[in-house]
Amino acid sequence: MTGARVAVVTGAARGIGQAVCVGLAERGVDVVAVDLVEPFETVGLVQARGRKALGLTGDVADPEQVARLGEEITAGMGRCDILVNNAGIYPMANIWKLEFDAWRKVLSVNLDSQFLMAKAVLHHMRDAQWGRIVNITSNSIGLGLPAQAHYLASKMGVIGFTRGLANDVARFGITVNAVGPTLSRTPGVAESPIDEQALAHVAQLQAIKRPGEATDVVGMICFLASDEAAFITGQTIMADGGLVRL
Ligand SMILES: NC(=O)c1ccc[n+]([C@@H]2O[C@H](COP(=O)([O-])OP(=O)(O)OC[C@H]3O[C@@H](n4cnc5c(N)ncnc54)[C@H](O)[C@@H]3O)[C@@H](O)[C@H]2O)c1
Repeated sequence: MTGARVAVVTGAARGIGQAVCVGLAERGVDVVAVDLVEPFETVGLVQARGRKALGLTGDVADPEQVARLGEEITAGMGRCDILVNNAGIYPMANIWKLEFDAWRKVLSVNLDSQFLMAKAVLHHMRDAQWGRIVNITSNSIGLGLPAQAHYLASKMGVIGFTRGLANDVARFGITVNAVGPTLSRTPGVAESPIDEQALAHVAQLQAIKRPGEATDVVGMICFLASDEAAFITGQTIMADGGLVRL
């Protein structure tokens, strides 16, 4: 391989996605930051670490927009070695209030997007005979929290997709794994009904009794995206302070 590796990270304007972009840049990887909103800040953080950064806007749940994003990734960087499917939403609704549109939206953003983005960049990895895909799930699949039927369906779907995709692409030197954060202090959580009490409650269930931070999953994601993780695929790893144990 010549030149730096290129990672595409979705949901990269803030929160966990932004932290992953910074972590990858610190490990010598160039970054394409994709988000619904212009990821200015993330691009600046990556460039400040001496790496190339490309910021792209688009909805990763929309097939036409993903096709356009795929072309922009190819035009801007010419390659994609690593894909971190991080974009996700977590609106809460009890089943009695959960409408079909809201169900479809969560499945679409959290799960369809991972399929669409993988399809858009896998040809680069196949050509290079090397690739890493890391899909973000959640440790809440192992908890008994209410009002999350749509979210848990999507995040269990991520685990199934990860297992299936790993089988199809292994022969091309591509690995696919899922990482599950715990409830963490991110802008998305700050905007949600989840309060300090809920953060403290989940933290108390963990072996390491503090709420997660966006940076807590970065080490695991960067490891799975590295050469060293070449023999690990199809796995789900909870980087969650020791709450859910698979
Ligand atoms: N924060 C937590 O407590 C927590 C816990 C477990 C899992 N997760 C998962 O981690 C991921 C990131 O969570 P976060 O808390 O950092 O979120 P966040 O809301 O802070 O940031 C998410 C980013 O994704 C972008 N985004 C949303 N929908 C998009 C779309 N359709 N296309 C492109 N970009 C889109 C948003 O604009 C935003 O910048 C999600 O998949 C989430 O389910 C988070």
